[in-house]
Amino acid sequence: MRVAVLRLGHRPERDQRVTTHVGLTARALGAEGMYLAADDAGVVTSIRDVAARWGGDFFVEHRVRWRRCIEEWKASGGCAVHLTMYGLPVQDVVGRIRASKDVLVIVGAEKVPGDVYGLADYNVAVTSQPHSEIAALAVFLDQLFEGKELGREFPGAAISIEPSPRGKKTAERDRREA
Ligand SMILES: C[S@@+](CC[C@H](N)C(=O)[O-])C[C@H]1O[C@@H](n2cnc3c(N)ncnc32)[C@H](O)[C@@H]1O
Repeated sequence: MRVAVLRLGHRPERDQRVTTHVGLTARALGAEGMYLAADDAGVVTSIRDVAARWGGDFFVEHRVRWRRCIEEWKASGGCAVHLTMYGLPVQDVVGRIRASKDVLVIVGAEKVPGDVYGLADYNVAVTSQPHSEIAALAVFLDQLFEGKELGREFPGAAISIEPSPRGKKTAERDRREA
């Protein structure tokens, strides 16, 4: 199953940190890339920088037209899941979503265009309370992958962490060896 994130409503003057964290969360928790429906090369560079050092092959594309992105994803047989507190509870629909070929997870920033609710195959709530796109995305991906994403490996990393009960242990490798 391919999983990617579509980030809508990004405002470069105030959302850079949150959008970067949406991308890093998507990468860490098993998505293969993020489409950004805004023009922000700074966010793209920050996420690519992390991905280059920490491994795996996460992609980031900006200047994406959100409607076309959703329509093309669906035309290729994938399903579109819009995370919104107004949707159906994640625990009630995630089993059906898991059966899909590919999943495009749509998250907003400010108000999401009304058409997104109709274009999405599923409008999904992570509780019916307002909170954050980063939290909603993290919980949704964990539900989708049933926790298996927590043990995912990131091949080709120049830097990785050796888990330890105390302190910070890292291993660094020349990228050419990795
Ligand atoms: C800070 S919220 C802003 C929501 C905005 N006020 C609106 O009416 O669309 C930004 C994004 O977080 C996600 N989000 C927030 N709470 C959520 C929830 N309970 N379940 C699923 N997604 C949520 C949605 O993707 C939303 O577009």
